Amino acid sequence: MTSAVAVDLTVQVGAVRLRNPILVASGTFGYGVEFAHLVDLNRLGGIVVKGLSREPMEGAPAPRLCETPAGMLNAVGLQNIGVRAFVAEKLPVLRKYDTAIIANVFGYCVDDYVEVIRILEDAEGVAAYELNISCPNVKRGGMQFGGDSSLVAEVVGAARKAAAKRPLWVKLSPMVADIGLIAKAAEGAGADALTVANTYPSMAIDPWSGKSRLGNQTGGLSGPSIKPITLRLVWETAKAVKSPIIGVGGIETVEDVLEYVAVGATAVQVGTASFTDPTVSQRLVEGLERALFRAKTFTINQIRGKVFADFG
Ligand SMILES: Cc1cc2nc3c(=O)[nH]c(=O)nc-3n(C[C@H](O)[C@H](O)[C@H](O)COP(=O)(O)O)c2cc1C
Repeated sequence: MTSAVAVDLTVQVGAVRLRNPILVASGTFGYGVEFAHLVDLNRLGGIVVKGLSREPMEGAPAPRLCETPAGMLNAVGLQNIGVRAFVAEKLPVLRKYDTAIIANVFGYCVDDYVEVIRILEDAEGVAAYELNISCPNVKRGGMQFGGDSSLVAEVVGAARKAAAKRPLWVKLSPMVADIGLIAKAAEGAGADALTVANTYPSMAIDPWSGKSRLGNQTGGLSGPSIKPITLRLVWETAKAVKSPIIGVGGIETVEDVLEYVAVGATAVQVGTASFTDPTVSQRLVEGLERALFRAKTFTINQIRGKVFADFG
């Protein structure tokens, strides 16, 4: 018997059934279709597309990426083609693949989020929305949506009303004093699942010029350096809410996936690792299947939240 038939990798993120728990993270895999010649997209649990805004955005000035020890900084500035072009040009190609398409949505005021969802609601082929709430709210002096429970409740509540057809995932900011409180606010306002978490605001300086290595001065830290911090955030979130959690931060290996599952994640997303190896997500699916088979763990659901069983 091969491992392919013996191990059940399917997971249920609320109403969304995924063929396996490995998704690719927003902003690190384009709109999916660009990777179709490298990765068998049908093997992935899901594809979270680049963040979509109401209108196209040009993004931040170069340089936009910079390598750091065990990670990288990015200041892409949420460049994207806009939700209408996504629906017209990318989605018709993407929805031919047999994988869950998650539309990552962002905005700078509540109406922006609502409008992007309203446009997506009329389109076919989206399995769920993922709200990126690590954005400044221009109507509240630039305060980040994701850092304040009442702003989280407001934006999630409005998005919930707009998203009549589909599940709503909310991607939390890691820059919060108490992620449990924020997670509860999102769940209370109608989130069906929580993605934990986004990048960590950081800087990198060229020591000789004294200037930032990024055109935007600051950027978001991602990759293996953030994994221990984000693991702790997933664990805190799992203690606070009942909603399924999608863990994302520094995942490169099968062991990384198992660690996230142990602290309560139902699924995971792979981001920065795709920059060094664009096929890593597919390799993780195959590696996870083999590893579980060897460990005689025939369903991924058997090991979720194991850390709670051991330590309460
Ligand atoms: C270049 C780049 C662009 C990103 N763009 C987005 C985005 O548009 N929306 C979003 O919610 N997250 C975005 N992210 C955050 C990732 O989806 C992910 O949460 C983060 O990088 C942590 O995972 P990782 O350590 O596996 O990269 C971006 C990350 C990178 C590196």
